[in-house]
Amino acid sequence: MDAFVFRNPTKLIFGQDQTNALAEELTSFGKNVLLVYGGGSIKANGLYDRVIEQLNRADKTVIELAGVEPNPRLTTVRKGIELIHEHHIDFILAVGGGSVIDATKAIAVGAKHDGDIWNVITKKETAQSAMPFGTILTLAATGSEMNAGSVITNWETQQKVGWSSPSSYPTFSILDPINTVSAPRDHTMYGIIDMMTHVLEAYFHPAEHTPLQDRICESILQTVMEAGPELLEDLTNLDQRETILYSGTMALNGITQMGARGDWGTHNLEHAVSAVSDIPHAGGLAILFPHWMRKSVDVNPARGAQLAVRVFGVDGSGKTDRETALEGIDRLASFWAKLGAPTRLADYEIGADQIEQMAGIAAANGPFGNYFKMDETTAYDLLKKAL
Ligand code: NZQ
Ligand code: ZN
Repeated sequence: MDAFVFRNPTKLIFGQDQTNALAEELTSFGKNVLLVYGGGSIKANGLYDRVIEQLNRADKTVIELAGVEPNPRLTTVRKGIELIHEHHIDFILAVGGGSVIDATKAIAVGAKHDGDIWNVITKKETAQSAMPFGTILTLAATGSEMNAGSVITNWETQQKVGWSSPSSYPTFSILDPINTVSAPRDHTMYGIIDMMTHVLEAYFHPAEHTPLQDRICESILQTVMEAGPELLEDLTNLDQRETILYSGTMALNGITQMGARGDWGTHNLEHAVSAVSDIPHAGGLAILFPHWMRKSVDVNPARGAQLAVRVFGVDGSGKTDRETALEGIDRLASFWAKLGAPTRLADYEIGADQIEQMAGIAAANGPFGNYFKMDETTAYDLLKKAL
């Protein structure tokens, strides 16, 4: 494995009814709170009222930024930064899914940054600090609740860019499975797929001798593949909501990538796809990942075979590693299809005329991916296969 340093400062507050811990958590922060949320799901399911009750109990003055869009936009981030300055905000509270949390991270950093936040997101400038912020997660998916990552879309330039900074970790995150019960079937499924791809991105790394890292990844995948279908059968199953919620956090809080840096090429490619066509992140991943994995078999068939045997239940006897790995990939693709995921870009009405632009955006900063490098031509070929 590679040498590593691990630090994750986010305080995780996990479990049923932990939303009631909010008032207590807020006592050490100032009076003015910016409450950031999405398109209204928290009003429909009653969480908004519970959060306001906690904010009142903590004697906070609340300013709101509502309407953060899925695939959050730079324009919304800028609006949030203005509100921070206008109302002398002391603390930001994000209540929602990955999009709300990602937008909040950019607002928190942007409010303390002298220049334009877009320059930080595009890595032209470095963030020095951030406003403190906490989160109440409502959708198990991205892992944003316990990592420093954020993904922001600039529609003017058609760029969807992932970024992070040492100061963009949430101060605390409250993960109450009850708050995820109202998530509809499609977003619950997308979340399940997203967390699985985070583990797969981590699994395909160039480091050698990573037995514990491999098994941590494999156990998260096995757990999600067991719990996911049961949850999608009964969206009110609180035990499975809890398991999926915990899995999503563990999939991308740094635990899987100690001593081994994953590939992340497919995420880069998907961000290029959703920068051109505003599709759900995990829908794009479900389409692209099996194609990427088939290419990865040329690099190291033994790794794909190990995954196929240990996680997808393939019997490797009498088969080459290549055959075993490919069978595992087919099983994964059909598992996702059975959950109801899209399988082709055409499912989102993305046609051959759009993929050249997507490949260009994906490779704009040069070849990408750590397990193997993809350039514009290989990205184009992969997108073509996914049509
Ligand atoms: O906006 P509201 O009304 O809240 O509705 C949302 C939204 O429409 C709804 N939803 C969320 N929780 C709900 C609920 N509806 C009912 N009940 C609930 N409890 O679900 C829809 C999708 O929400 P969103 O936050 O967009 O989903 P997700 O958490 O999957 O976040 C996706 C974004 O995160 C980025 C993606 O690229 C995408 O922009 N990612 C962020 C990462 C990170 N920060 O580490 C890593 C990921 O790989 C990913 O790229
Ligand atoms: Zn993802």
